[in-house]
Amino acid sequence: MTLAKLLRRLQDLVANLVAALETMLLFPALFRDPFRTRPGPFHSAYWRRRSLDSLADEVDRLFTAPLTPPNMCAMSDQMRAQLSAALQSSQINMLPSYTRTLPTGAETGTFLALDVGGSTLRVSLVHLAGQGTMAIRHVASTPIDEEVKLLEGTRFFDWMASHIDTMLAEVDAEDGRGPVPLSVGLSWSFPLEQTSHNTGLLIHMGKGFMCSTGTVGQELGQLITEACRRRNLSVAVDAIVNDGSATLLSRAYVDPTTRMSLILGTGTNMAIHYPVDCIGRAKFGDRPPAWFEGAPHVIVNTEMSMFGGAVLPLTRWDEILNRTHLRPDYQPLEYMITGRYLGEIVRLVIVEAVETAHLFRGELPHSMRDAYSFDTSLLAAIEADPSPQLTISAALLQKEHPGTHAPRPEDMRFLRRVCQTVSRRAAGYLATAIHSMWSLHNDADAEAESPADTVPGKAPKQVTVIEREGNPRSLSIACDGSVINKYPGFRDHCQAYLDQLTHETAASRESLDPSPSLIHLDPAPESAILGAAVAVAIAVSEQP
Ligand code: BGC
Repeated sequence: MTLAKLLRRLQDLVANLVAALETMLLFPALFRDPFRTRPGPFHSAYWRRRSLDSLADEVDRLFTAPLTPPNMCAMSDQMRAQLSAALQSSQINMLPSYTRTLPTGAETGTFLALDVGGSTLRVSLVHLAGQGTMAIRHVASTPIDEEVKLLEGTRFFDWMASHIDTMLAEVDAEDGRGPVPLSVGLSWSFPLEQTSHNTGLLIHMGKGFMCSTGTVGQELGQLITEACRRRNLSVAVDAIVNDGSATLLSRAYVDPTTRMSLILGTGTNMAIHYPVDCIGRAKFGDRPPAWFEGAPHVIVNTEMSMFGGAVLPLTRWDEILNRTHLRPDYQPLEYMITGRYLGEIVRLVIVEAVETAHLFRGELPHSMRDAYSFDTSLLAAIEADPSPQLTISAALLQKEHPGTHAPRPEDMRFLRRVCQTVSRRAAGYLATAIHSMWSLHNDADAEAESPADTVPGKAPKQVTVIEREGNPRSLSIACDGSVINKYPGFRDHCQAYLDQLTHETAASRESLDPSPSLIHLDPAPESAILGAAVAVAIAVSEQP
C-alpha cells in the first residue's frame, strides 16, 4: 500500500470516529441498551442522574402533548385520508368481507363457535333463541402462551384441533365423529383476505404469532378442517369472520341499528357496515357480478391497527419498541394502544428510569429484562390500587418481578404516573382513530345524499342512509376486548376524548348538532363467540 493510500485510510478512520462520537453525543438514547440492569461507566446516564419527578414530567409532556382537541382533529383528518386511500386499493386492510346481511335477531339454532384471540382460544356452544336473545351453553378457554404463539404453520392448527377435540369430548363424545360434519363458525383475530363467507387466505399475523410463517396465502378453513381430520374429527367451517366483524354481528343480533364495532384487547380493530359503491372494485377479488347486485352494503374489516403511521407522534420509547419489533411499522396504532404493548412501553420507561433516575434504587429486577415481561394487567392493578401508599400494587409487583428491595412509595408513585400517562395517551389515540372512522362513515352518508346522485341519466347509488333516533350523525359503537371493557377508567377516558373531538367538529360545522355525545361506546361482552355463531346462522339461512 502506498503512503498516500495509507494516509487516506487514516483520514477516513478519523472522520468516521468523529461522526460516531457526534452521533453518540446528540442521540445518547440510540446507544442505550434496554436490556442492561445498571449503567456502565461509559454510559451517558452514569453521569446524568435526574429525579423521578423530572422524568415523570418529561414522560407526561411527551405522551400527552399531542392530545389537544384541535391537534387530535387534525390527526383524525390525516387518518381519514389514509383510510379513504386504503378503501380503494390496499390488499391488507379495509378488507370487504362477504357478510352483507346483518342479522334480524330471528335466527335460531345451536352452533359450535371458535374464537382464536390474541391470547386465548375459546371453543364454545352457542344457542340463538330468536327475538334477539342468545346464550353460551358451554365454553372451554385455553390461554395461548408465548410457546404456542411461536408454533409455525400447521403445528398451530394441530394445537387448535386438539383443544376442539377435548371440548367436544366434554360435551358429547359423538359430536364431530358422525358422518355429517359438525358446522363451525370461526372468529379470527388476525387479518385475512376473505374469498367467500367461509374461506379466506392467510395474511401475516401480528401479536407475536408465527403461525402464518409458511402458510401465508393458504386457505384458513381448510387448514382447520385438515388439522381436525388428523384427529378423526369431521368439521365444516361454515362461516369465518374477523373478531371485529363478530362484535358487530353479535350486537346487531340484539340491536339491528348497529353499524360499527371496536375491539381493544391484545390487539385493536374496527368493523364497519359500509356502502359497496364507495369501495374500490379491485378490492373485492373474483366475486360473481350477481354478488354486487344484491349488496348495497358489506361489513368491512378495517384492520384499523395498521393506520396512523407518520400521523400519531412517537416517543423515544415507542421508537425502541417499533425498532425491536418482529414486524416494525406493521401496526403503528396497535403498538401504542393495545394490551400487548402498553406493558412493554411502561417497561421501556422503567428501564430508563432505573438507569437515569434511580428507580428501584437503580436495580432492574432480573425478570423485567426481557421484552414483553411487564404485563398490562400490572398497569391496570397499579392504576386501580386504592391504598394510599400503593402498597397493594407494590406487593403484587414484588411478587411478579422480585427485586433485592421492595419498591419504595416514591417508586410506586412514579410508576402510577407513568401508567396513567401511557393509558391516557392510548385512550386519546384510540378516540382519534374512532373519530376518523366516524368521519369516513359520514363521508359515505354525505356522498349518498349528494346531488350528483340525481344527475339525469345516472342511476342513483344504492346507499341507504341509516336512520338513527335524534341526531342522524350519532352512532353507537359495540365494543369488546379486555382493555376497553376492563382496564380501569379506559372507556370513560376514551369517551371523554370522543366527546371533545365531536364537539370540536360540531363547532366547525354548523350542520351538526353540537350536543357532545355523538359517538357512544357500548360494551358488547363475549362478542367474538356470539358473533361467530350469528355468522354461521346467517350462512346457514342463506344456503339454497
Ligand atoms: C388484528 C385484527 C384483529 C385485532 C383485534 C389486530 O392485531 O390484525 O385482525 O381484529 O387485532 O383482535
